Amino acid sequence: MKPLKRIAILTGGGDCPGLNAVIRSIAKPAMSYFGATVIGIEDGFEGFVEGRMRELTSQDVAGIVNIGGTILGTSNKGDPFHFPVLTDNGIETKDYSDRAIKHYKDWDLDAVVAIGGDGTMHIVDKFTDMGLNLVGVPKTIDNDLSSTDQTFGYDSALTVATEAVDRLHTTASAHHRVMVIEVMGRYAGWIALGSGLAGGADVILIPEIPFKWERVFDAVSSRSKHGKKFSIVCVAEGAKPADGDLVVKEKDAKRTDPLRLGGIGDLVAKRIEASTGLETRVTVLGHLQRGGSPTPFDRILATKYGSMALQLVAEKKFGHMVSLRGTEVVSVPVKQAILKLRTVPPDSQLIFSARAVGTVFGD
Ligand code: F6P
Repeated sequence: MKPLKRIAILTGGGDCPGLNAVIRSIAKPAMSYFGATVIGIEDGFEGFVEGRMRELTSQDVAGIVNIGGTILGTSNKGDPFHFPVLTDNGIETKDYSDRAIKHYKDWDLDAVVAIGGDGTMHIVDKFTDMGLNLVGVPKTIDNDLSSTDQTFGYDSALTVATEAVDRLHTTASAHHRVMVIEVMGRYAGWIALGSGLAGGADVILIPEIPFKWERVFDAVSSRSKHGKKFSIVCVAEGAKPADGDLVVKEKDAKRTDPLRLGGIGDLVAKRIEASTGLETRVTVLGHLQRGGSPTPFDRILATKYGSMALQLVAEKKFGHMVSLRGTEVVSVPVKQAILKLRTVPPDSQLIFSARAVGTVFGD
């Protein structure tokens, strides 16, 4: 049997803090214990299709555990099976998976470790079915991947979002205002729920619990009537009213997920002010949630994920993804991980605890 000597790594989808910590914890032992050559694929699957790959040195992966972003670059527009191509008719998607397979063969790869979210894991699954050797590592600030208790990146985003809620509290209280904060998370409310709970938001709106406008207006008005002169409303970008739809900022056919969400915070702020007469401001936290250094938790989780991913490669357990179960890192079939998105269960303990301290979800 051929020993595993040539291992490639790619980071796909939106970046998040901790990607470099994973790259380091795969590459360092791969080089030092297995004597393997480690190849970095630039900009995720887009770079794989285009053959943008380079050999990594030990210097490339030194001193990066605490650095955000990814030394390899990433992209959410390069799905090889639906690769965006500019034609006379505009953007069309074509199946360019054969190009990625060619580069896999040209570079004589024994395995590829793909670090990414839901979109990346779907691609890992397809290439595995076609006979390529791939292993997945779950990343995303959204924390929406099934079969793992947590993705790395979430804790860092949560830390930033919680600090933002804390900061909004002081200015909200000084000016007696309603402060609406819109946080990321796509179709899952983990960031809004976590930061809203940790930061003591009065209203939390998440995609999993469609809200009624009147409930939101009542919540802030009744606080005001009871002498509480400010309110904090933490809104997930994917939150939607029971009688309405997702608020979409942009549609982009090149993206793995064509919908770019955004704008619900502004809508909520405008409607609160119009209906209650209370002065309201909105903050859209945006990509601040994805930038900067990973928290210690994410550095540790990312390092554990990386070494387990290398172990899976060594054991030839392809088509598997590393996963956190309680405090242990284990592995699960990628097929199982992509069955559905991991959204917040409306009967979860987190929701129960938030309701118990008076948080309103608008239902
Ligand atoms: O999936 C991570 C994420 O940050 C989502 O929370 C957000 O909806 C999306 O990516 C933003 O994508 P982009 O960086 O392409 O604007």
